[in-house]
Amino acid sequence: MDRELALEIVRVTEMAALSCARWMGRGRKYEADGAATSAMRAMFDTVQMDGTVVIGEGEMDEAPMLYIGEKLGTGVPPEVDVAVDPLEGTNILAKGLWNAMSVVAVAPKGSLLHAPDMYMDKIAVGPKARGRVHLDATIAENLRAVAEATDKDISDVVAVILDRPRHQHIIEQVRAAGARIKLISDGDVAGALNTAFAETGVDILFGQGGAPEGVLAAAALKCLGGELQGRLLPENEEQRKRCWSMGITDLNRVLTMDDLVRGDDVIFAATGVTDGELLRGVRFIGKARAKTHSLVMRAKTGTMRFIEAIHDLTRKQLPDGE
Ligand code: FBP
Repeated sequence: MDRELALEIVRVTEMAALSCARWMGRGRKYEADGAATSAMRAMFDTVQMDGTVVIGEGEMDEAPMLYIGEKLGTGVPPEVDVAVDPLEGTNILAKGLWNAMSVVAVAPKGSLLHAPDMYMDKIAVGPKARGRVHLDATIAENLRAVAEATDKDISDVVAVILDRPRHQHIIEQVRAAGARIKLISDGDVAGALNTAFAETGVDILFGQGGAPEGVLAAAALKCLGGELQGRLLPENEEQRKRCWSMGITDLNRVLTMDDLVRGDDVIFAATGVTDGELLRGVRFIGKARAKTHSLVMRAKTGTMRFIEAIHDLTRKQLPDGE
């Protein structure tokens, strides 16, 4: 994949973020998601690639746009897999909380795990602790490994965990080990991404979140030299069949970085919708302009670009989602 594609992809996340940001705090997550999705879909049409959605807004019959299998781009090579989350953190945006983002990952065809819509058990760390943690190790063992890798006392290590009753046992074990916790209401892609940046103040992500979000986070961590391990958690026969149809017969298997994102030719882009530890949210400047803050990265070269862009809204048509 040419490096120019990275800048095309960040234009896509910028447009999605701009389009849903006006829904911040308005309590209407479906409208916000709709605005981000239609803007993202429209921008993809201008990108030179022959893309297929492998992680998207749902199956063809349940999602009008960005459904799994949908073709994206102008239809000329490169042939790529596309993973999208036009609005990662629909509830976050509806309440005006932290870390809503628009996210896309692109990799050569066949590289991204076609993760079904189910939960995944996850552990994620930044580059210093890569290779030192394991999903099957105890919480205390993993925290000790992160403390050692980051040269911290365990009492200074911060675990980021989705605030859900199902995570109570993890929370108790982190507390018993003496480490600190940042509970998040939603948005475990940002939670995983943040482990790779010391300034965000988080070191490790534990817990169950969406499997599609797991692949997006793995794409980001591949670019950053971090690590995410996951295990699919099918809850019924239909979900188990979905796993088998993807070739995952051993449902207990820990999925490694290469199972989630094969090779190192992946591009990841995210644009902040609401403020987060890493990315600022969209700022409207007067009636005519808006500022976005994005991160775009390529695993092949390890380049990370933080991009601040000012958009002239008098020349850009933003869908409103209604
Ligand atoms: P949405 O943007 O689809 O609302 O997902 C937000 C999210 O918090 C993800 O980041 C996370 O993986 C998943 O939902 C957790 O699911 P649940 O809310 O069911 O615990």
